[in-house]
Amino acid sequence: MTNYVIEVADVSKYYGGVVANKDISLRVPEGKITGLIGPNGSGKTTLFNSIVGYHPIDGGSIKFKGEEISKYRVPQIARLGLLRTFQQTRIYGNMNCIENMLISVPHRKMQFKDMFGERAGKAIMEEVDHLLDFVGLYEKRKLRSGDLSFGQQKLLEFAMALMNKPEVLLLDEPTAGINPTLINGLIDRLRRANEEFGITLFIIEHNMRVIMNMAESIYCLAHGEMLAHGAPDELQSDQRVIDAYLGAH
Ligand SMILES: Nc1ncnc2c1ncn2[C@@H]1O[C@H](COP(=O)(O)OP(=O)(O)OP(=O)(O)O)[C@@H](O)[C@H]1O
Ligand SMILES: [Mg+2]
Repeated sequence: MTNYVIEVADVSKYYGGVVANKDISLRVPEGKITGLIGPNGSGKTTLFNSIVGYHPIDGGSIKFKGEEISKYRVPQIARLGLLRTFQQTRIYGNMNCIENMLISVPHRKMQFKDMFGERAGKAIMEEVDHLLDFVGLYEKRKLRSGDLSFGQQKLLEFAMALMNKPEVLLLDEPTAGINPTLINGLIDRLRRANEEFGITLFIIEHNMRVIMNMAESIYCLAHGEMLAHGAPDELQSDQRVIDAYLGAH
């Protein structure tokens, strides 16, 4: 029987008069890769923001592993093991990769004084090195992260999220703005995070080659409403999805 780690039921979110999400329902199966697609402005990021507690919702229910979380805020939800990355990367450009990794673990109980320099915990530093190696940034670990390419910054952001040991990771357009060579590397890392670390992934993506290859099932939003759900080949041949979105890609 499939376990669903995220269960969204009839969720609505308004920005003033704008209906960003209307009665959205979806389920994310444990241990799988699930996709979320749809035209610009269709409400994908808004839905992620609602799930991770970034803003209150205007109606509906959101469950994480059976627990109602729609009244919780980001830190509380992160502690439960549900995290997201951003459409725009959120790294500190003036810090090097190691420092960014160290400040990315507020959700795991660590004293600020333990994080830097000689006093940084050995186990934490080993984990930082391991994850920077995992995303291919070990050689660049002491470089100012603002000097990395945009693709490398996204890999760093992914490694920073992994520092929190998420059970479920929501990724908002992970491959946007990345050159094709790095995209393949990133896909490979995402797959390994799913297969080797067992992290459930829920991914917003405009790159159809990427999402159709990675995701087992895909949801498609249009105008803030759920338009369709199915396996990649089902969506690709769904006339509603073609008309609303795929026709333009
Ligand atoms: N903070 C906000 N205040 C007001 N309106 C907003 C806000 N955030 C999003 N919106 C509006 O809500 C709707 C959905 O936006 P959202 O960012 O969720 O779309 P999206 O599917 O992620 O688009 P994209 O593919 O361009 O990232 C849009 O009409 C947008 O203009
Ligand atoms: Mg968005």
